[in-house]
Amino acid sequence: MKSIIAIDGPAGAGKSTIAKSLAEALNYLYIDTGAMYRAVAYQALQQEAPLDNAEQLGQIAAQAQLDMRVENGENRIFLNGNDITKEIRLPHISAIASTVSAVPQVREQLVPKQRELAERGRAVLDGRDIGTVVLPQADCKIYLTASLDERAERRYKELLGRGLPADLAEVRQDIEQRDYQDTHRETSPLRQAEDAKYLDTTGLSIEQVLQQVLQLAEAAE
Ligand code: DC
Repeated sequence: MKSIIAIDGPAGAGKSTIAKSLAEALNYLYIDTGAMYRAVAYQALQQEAPLDNAEQLGQIAAQAQLDMRVENGENRIFLNGNDITKEIRLPHISAIASTVSAVPQVREQLVPKQRELAERGRAVLDGRDIGTVVLPQADCKIYLTASLDERAERRYKELLGRGLPADLAEVRQDIEQRDYQDTHRETSPLRQAEDAKYLDTTGLSIEQVLQQVLQLAEAAE
């Protein structure tokens, strides 16, 4: 088994669920790069930073002390010592994260941190540009996707499951908008790396996807 596995794909494709389970199965470190953009979005909101001020957003990313660790089997993210794991999953943070992630000054700060985290190897990273930009030398690259309807349905159920109010049509629209922003931005847009395996998970259970991903990881050996 090789040491770096990159999982990219659009919002709601199940990347974090699969990446986390895969890391557990292989005893690898799981690095959720989306959580880092979400943390910067959270901080920008706290500081009431204008979202069109690229320099200020870059400074926020530079100054953010991000700490990601597993506690009681759950991935937690700390910003300047505060646990913001729950807060960053709120829908308004998802929208802001997509906006701040398009800012080159933000990416310039976060990409080196992601490379540093992955440096030791034996890591699964998920995001939008892992196989194309962050770690193009990754040993195994997977592009995970599913139909828009299915991704919206999964995200909707996830929000309800966490006791958050949700409206399916609204969730679908948010995802569609994020897909557009994430694939059309100038810096490191979401796209499938040429050497990534394309995996459409529409209609598949988490267990079925995990089995396929494990096979792909083994085949990359
Ligand atoms: O995977 P996620 O939904 O937690 O990501 C939040 C946002 O961050 C998403 O809209 C795109 C952006 N992102 C990115 O641009 N590059 C990454 N490697 C990971 C996430």
